[in-house]
Amino acid sequence: MRRKLTAGNWKMNGNRGLMAELGTLSGSQSADAPEIVICPPHPLLTRAIDATSGSPIEIGGQDCHAATKGAYTGDVAASMIAETGATFVIVGHSERRDGHSESDETVRSKAEAAWAAGLTAIICIGESDAERAGNDTLQIIAEQLQASLPDGATAENTVVAYEPIWAIGTGKVPTLAQIIETHDMLRGELLTRLGDASTGIRLLYGGSVKPTNAAEIFQAENVDGALVGGASLKAADFQPIIDALAAS
Ligand code: PGA
Repeated sequence: MRRKLTAGNWKMNGNRGLMAELGTLSGSQSADAPEIVICPPHPLLTRAIDATSGSPIEIGGQDCHAATKGAYTGDVAASMIAETGATFVIVGHSERRDGHSESDETVRSKAEAAWAAGLTAIICIGESDAERAGNDTLQIIAEQLQASLPDGATAENTVVAYEPIWAIGTGKVPTLAQIIETHDMLRGELLTRLGDASTGIRLLYGGSVKPTNAAEIFQAENVDGALVGGASLKAADFQPIIDALAAS
């Protein structure tokens, strides 16, 4: 039985004021809540750790460099994220793949760097609208998974997030049948590649998850939770998504 997980990706949003939202979230989680991770921008990691201290909410980074240190101006090593007390890091988000030309190989190296630092990597994959329109979705995301996922992935070190690029921040969501189709296929790919070690790896859906559609999305058997962008910025939006996951 996989423990359900909701991760909030704040992207390049947030300031000290947003810590109050984390305080609200921290105070309202029951012992049997799903696992909850919030990924704020790097400069806010320490504040986020403080704001959630004593609560079950965990903190993660949004990206890390594949190297452990060196002349990489503006980049952050996985060990630096871990040193703040964070336990997760997102790698391969489509906004990194597109905006920073990250290949599957780069993403795989970043996931390995995350593991080496003791972090759980949330590895993102997803098709563009042109690939969806061309009926290439299953092939594209299967290839991304194979190339972005390092050997040695386990339930402890890896979470996979399927995020159709056309659904991110657009309010468009795949149909439940499409979500079931992609997640069932990805679960099968994990099993073929990793065998029994794969059965505990959580598969998240991401892309315009809102309080209004979360319960329907969580009906899919192989959806173990969500990676949430915009709706993770306010406790009043994020909490109903957590509740819908708990009830699923
Ligand atoms: P969204 O973003 O929920 O705002 O669509 C999801 C993501 O990019 O992880």
